[in-house]
Amino acid sequence: MSKTVGGSPSFMGKRAATGGFDASGIDAEAWEVLEGQLEATIPNYDRVNTWMTFGQDKRWRRNVRNHATPGMNVLEVGCGPGSFAEDLVGMDLTCLDPSPEMLATAQPRVDSARAARGEGPAEYVQAIAENIPLPDDTFDMVFCLFSFRDFQDKAQGLREIYRVLKPGGQLVICDAGKANKLHGFFGYLWMNSVVQVMARIITKEKNHPWKGLAASYTHYGTNGYYRKMLKDVGFQGVQGRLLYPFGMASRFRGTKPENAVQQPTPLDS
Ligand SMILES: C[S@@+](CC[C@H](N)C(=O)[O-])C[C@H]1O[C@@H](n2cnc3c(N)ncnc32)[C@H](O)[C@@H]1O
Repeated sequence: MSKTVGGSPSFMGKRAATGGFDASGIDAEAWEVLEGQLEATIPNYDRVNTWMTFGQDKRWRRNVRNHATPGMNVLEVGCGPGSFAEDLVGMDLTCLDPSPEMLATAQPRVDSARAARGEGPAEYVQAIAENIPLPDDTFDMVFCLFSFRDFQDKAQGLREIYRVLKPGGQLVICDAGKANKLHGFFGYLWMNSVVQVMARIITKEKNHPWKGLAASYTHYGTNGYYRKMLKDVGFQGVQGRLLYPFGMASRFRGTKPENAVQQPTPLDS
């Protein structure tokens, strides 16, 4: 995997094609660069997140976690180093991430938290959201915390999540907030100034990975854009709201209809 740390991946160039938001996707080469940058955040990931959100990341995670109840079968897509998954209590849990380094960090962290609560280990799957190697109609709940922004093909990722949800199951996404272009501009300023200073202080490195990660915010679409995408994929009861403070984060919810008919796979047809 590429280990480029600073700098902006080339996907920024495509933004104009969609009015400044969410180009058709992140191209493969740019995604490899992005993954290398995400992996390079591992040692400082939680600390920088807490600083750059004034500690609100913990409240947002709690807000999202409260959608699940003990006994559910839950999938976290893009589990990263396990910052969210470790606190899911009393659930059957599958953690999916394309990065072996992220999974190697998440596994001991999540499983030791589970063991301390008397729970068995979680399952770990190395894969991308766009191609989930798990059966249809499996999960009561799918969570995406700060990973949706990194999907190469967001509509395909949502289709795969829809497929693996049980009818009546729910998807909850939490990611950066962007109400409109103006709000996005303030977010851009924040990501490219204050966050950069914080990351530099914490990592003590001039060429820290948050330099490149700011680009993934610029590239990310608005709330309305993704609400429509969720509806187009087939989710019902779609909501997308900005979270306090300043709409720094957003939370999307959507439910797979109870009467959803699974699309036949090529082998069925
Ligand atoms: C910023 S971390 C989020 C970690 C964690 N969910 C949290 O609560 O902080 C983003 C994660 O998304 C993963 N990711 C990137 N592209 C992905 C894709 N196409 N499908 C699934 N996960 C992806 C990255 O490997 C990374 O571990």
